[in-house]
Amino acid sequence: MGAKLFEPLTLRSLTFRNRIFVSPMCMYSAHEGCPTEWHLVHLGSRAVGGAGLVMTEATAVLSEGRISPWDTGLWNDQQKEAFAPIARFIAEQGAVPAIQLAHAGRKASTRRPWEKLPRPLTKEEGAWQPVAPSPLPFDEGYPTPRELSPEELSDIAQAFAEAARRAVEAGFQVVEIHMAHGYLLHEFLSPLANRRGDQFGGSFENRIRFPLMVAKRVREAVPAELPLLVRISATDWVEGGWDLDQSVEFARRLKEIGVDLIDCSSGGIVPSAPIPDYPGYQVPFAEAIRRQAEVPTGAVGLITTPEQAEQIVATGQADVVLMARELLRDPYFPLRAALRLGVEPDFWPVQYFRAKPRVADG
Ligand SMILES: Cc1cc2nc3c(=O)[nH]c(=O)nc-3n(C[C@H](O)[C@H](O)[C@H](O)COP(=O)(O)O)c2cc1C
Repeated sequence: MGAKLFEPLTLRSLTFRNRIFVSPMCMYSAHEGCPTEWHLVHLGSRAVGGAGLVMTEATAVLSEGRISPWDTGLWNDQQKEAFAPIARFIAEQGAVPAIQLAHAGRKASTRRPWEKLPRPLTKEEGAWQPVAPSPLPFDEGYPTPRELSPEELSDIAQAFAEAARRAVEAGFQVVEIHMAHGYLLHEFLSPLANRRGDQFGGSFENRIRFPLMVAKRVREAVPAELPLLVRISATDWVEGGWDLDQSVEFARRLKEIGVDLIDCSSGGIVPSAPIPDYPGYQVPFAEAIRRQAEVPTGAVGLITTPEQAEQIVATGQADVVLMARELLRDPYFPLRAALRLGVEPDFWPVQYFRAKPRVADG
């Protein structure tokens, strides 16, 4: 008897012990871009809990690319050194350490989400000038971003590449580029945020140019034996926005330049989009992209039970599941899921050997 969820997966030279990945989650608990003890315990617990891959939160490649002043970053070596023990600990637990690299674009310079509204920081709180493809604010009350020049785009692509190099030096074995949720790279993809008249805006080919440039530079910076992932918003959920057909074609282009898996999320480009909230609501995107672009995919969004996760990978809707909130509720979900699905987990933490249940107890 076996569960597909617990069959190892190999991408390039790297084998994941199972197909449950920890989805990136901002903790708003960093200090000057450096991860803290919080990150070690938070990410470390999920590695102990048995996930196949543990991904850091969106980590900014430049200081102005942070969502908030409390985001992690990787634009200097001090940040790299702060990440190294975290990557090492995750790997020691048998999970693959991964990092999500990001630039917040026009959604930069905000408060922590549990603080009072409105979201954007005030000048007194240290607000900075966000940048974007076009001078269109995200929402009422948000600052108007400054339009980036082509020279600046090249510098940002370079910053992604340098952050990727530092990530590998820090011990991360997987890099994911954040191209979803209305942040900078998604802003270039979506006609709702990109109104440029130059070679980076307008047609599909022009809108994907900068995100592809970033993916190419990062691919060159990451050793050939290590996988590169890209998270996209497969649809904006808005008529006239980015949609699944464009995502399929974009996934083909990403695959051509050596991206190994597309992590399929959705939404975030505008505040008003009607986004559904039923279990697995984004899974059909992972399935369509996997089948039509013939590239491995990850499904994410309201995946909360072992049976649901197993069904997604066993029926070939996706190669892996990424889970966020359920793994906050229960960092040991992978261990529990194995037992529930009748799999003897060989990744039970040895230090906890006295507590190991039998499969029948799961
Ligand atoms: C606290 C929190 C922080 C998040 N931060 C990020 C992030 O840094 N990058 C990202 O791509 N998605 C982020 N997300 C989205 C999750 O990765 C995930 O896609 C989403 O929560 C849906 O999955 P779930 O239903 O399993 O929670 C965050 C979600 C939560 C709950």
